[in-house]
Amino acid sequence: MSKTALITGATSGLGYEFVKLFAADGYNLVLVARNKQKLEEIKQSFRSIDVRFVCKDLSVPNAAKEVFEEIEEQGIYIDVLVNNAGFGLLGNFDELDIQKQVNMIQLNITALTELTYYLLPKMKQKHGGKIINVASTAAFQPGPLMAVYYATKAYVLSFSEALVEEVSDIENSITVTTLCPGPTKTNFGSVANVEGTKMFSNAMNSDIVAKQGYEAMKKGKRVVVTGGMNRVGVFAAKFLPRSTAAKMAKFVAGKK
Ligand SMILES: NC(=O)c1ccc[n+]([C@@H]2O[C@H](COP(=O)([O-])OP(=O)(O)OC[C@H]3O[C@@H](n4cnc5c(N)ncnc54)[C@H](OP(=O)(O)O)[C@@H]3O)[C@@H](O)[C@H]2O)c1
Repeated sequence: MSKTALITGATSGLGYEFVKLFAADGYNLVLVARNKQKLEEIKQSFRSIDVRFVCKDLSVPNAAKEVFEEIEEQGIYIDVLVNNAGFGLLGNFDELDIQKQVNMIQLNITALTELTYYLLPKMKQKHGGKIINVASTAAFQPGPLMAVYYATKAYVLSFSEALVEEVSDIENSITVTTLCPGPTKTNFGSVANVEGTKMFSNAMNSDIVAKQGYEAMKKGKRVVVTGGMNRVGVFAAKFLPRSTAAKMAKFVAGKK
């Protein structure tokens, strides 16, 4: 019987690349995002697998629970959870809209946490399952000018690495893979207003980034940082004083 993957943020960027990768391997899919027309188009374009979607704004409280309830009602078992939906915002913390930043925390942190909470128990019962949580190279240091975004991704990395240990003794294994991309060519750049920044001058292609995450998931890897330069940056951030790493993050967040 085919396995099923649930992918949040499936309508563009990395999420859509994951859709193609899972579909190519014969997975049935449950797609979650806000844009109903795009969800319908994606569903129509994959005829050989079962594609369902839940049109939901995950930045609204309780949305993740509602997604879970819809899946339960349809009797779908999720073998792979891809917590991918997320966004960032560039600017001084106190000058950015507070509601947008709260929505970011709700989407990047709370929805990811709740979906994991609701889907993990069945994976444990069935003695198997895979989770990909999309963090970022932002997870490894404080990020002035994107303070909340960087903090949300630090949460995703810390939470996911802790879960790895909690599930590590389960027979047949549940794996949790944290994907940490650096700047990547998707809609993220225009949504976050970071396209003209120094950090985005060498953005990677989204198909390559998603493929690296997908392969890491298959191998059950814990953390994958995509791209050689990004791995160097993450390595450096681990050894630099936090204040120096923060200053560097501020520098690259500046316009070219
Ligand atoms: N691109 C980068 O440079 C980069 C680097 C590091 C990490 N990341 C992370 O990668 C993940 C994917 O982002 P991306 O780069 O692929 O960006 P993207 O092209 O903007 O895709 C974001 C996806 O999330 C969905 N989404 C946004 N807000 C949502 C909400 N409130 N509720 C439900 N779905 C929502 C969007 O669909 P709808 O608009 O249809 O809802 C879209 O499918 C994010 O977690 C991001 O933080 C990206």
